[in-house]
Amino acid sequence: MQEQAAQIQAEALAAIEAATTEAVLEDARVKFLGKKSPLNALAGEMRNLSNEEKPKLGAALNAARQAIGGALETQKQSLQDAADAASVADLDPSLPARILPSGALHPLTVVKDRAIQILRRLGFALADGPEIETEFHCFDALNTPFDHPARNDSDTFYFDSGKLLRTHTSSVQIRTMEKAAPPIKIIAPGSAYRRDEIDATHLSVFNQLEGLYVDKDVRLSDLKGTLEFFYRAMFGENTEVRFRPHFFPFTEPSFEIDVKLQVKGEAPKWIEVAGCGMVDPAVFTQVNESRGDQAFDPAQLTGYAFGMGLDRLAMIQYGIRDIRLLIENDTRFLSQFA
Ligand code: DAH
Repeated sequence: MQEQAAQIQAEALAAIEAATTEAVLEDARVKFLGKKSPLNALAGEMRNLSNEEKPKLGAALNAARQAIGGALETQKQSLQDAADAASVADLDPSLPARILPSGALHPLTVVKDRAIQILRRLGFALADGPEIETEFHCFDALNTPFDHPARNDSDTFYFDSGKLLRTHTSSVQIRTMEKAAPPIKIIAPGSAYRRDEIDATHLSVFNQLEGLYVDKDVRLSDLKGTLEFFYRAMFGENTEVRFRPHFFPFTEPSFEIDVKLQVKGEAPKWIEVAGCGMVDPAVFTQVNESRGDQAFDPAQLTGYAFGMGLDRLAMIQYGIRDIRLLIENDTRFLSQFA
């Protein structure tokens, strides 16, 4: 009987080796290791054997099963290897690779990311707020009187509900102070909307970056030092920065910031890049009223705020003459930045 087992094993190994497809191999597996296999039939006769013979046949059966199982594995692997090799047989790896067009960040994104990176190094955390705003957050809390031109229907997109598309990111100042207690040191990049006549320097949607720092003893000199550092990090360490007195309802004193720059192909000139100032105490009072506490005590706290146009920065940085190029998604333009 042991010889019978050895003979079945030899027969099985021959069949397995001869199998050239996985289906034939599977048939061989069922035939030689399945329930109705000759080895199982042989095992069924075990009970007729003497106690001495039983273990011998058992060992022979095990050896045969193992050998068959191993051969099945080996053959399966080599069939798969052959199939893999065949599937790449037509490939010529010496051919030059096809050039795939590679994407790149939009110039506005590059400039925004750099601005954020510089300001984060100075300890500003990122904040944001909704683009659909209330008049309170966009105007009232920012000390903007009812008759201010920015509140006109002709300048601002209003919804029937009375809400509006925020006209500046300064609303995030209020949103942040409503949620958190001082000290506050945040920047908020984001979109703003105005009903401007569209031309080479105006779109009805544009991008700003707002900054707010509120703490005990924040001074105008802190604001000046921070923004000078920022514009020098942005445009080079010899960049000249000028603070020009101006008016904004939510800061006092207020300034516009000019940077002396050479746009590619032009003579150096002063370019207005941002508005800024010391937070008007009236803003703290409004925030306290909205919060229902005195967390922003105007007698204890001071702060500075600034807001810059990011589109403007990108246009300066790359010598882009028409702001519309930034939103047209024309790959002839965009691929220059790839
Ligand atoms: N919100 C102003 C604008 O859109 C810019 C600005 C001016 C922001 C002064 C400020 C600021 O935070 O202090 O024109």
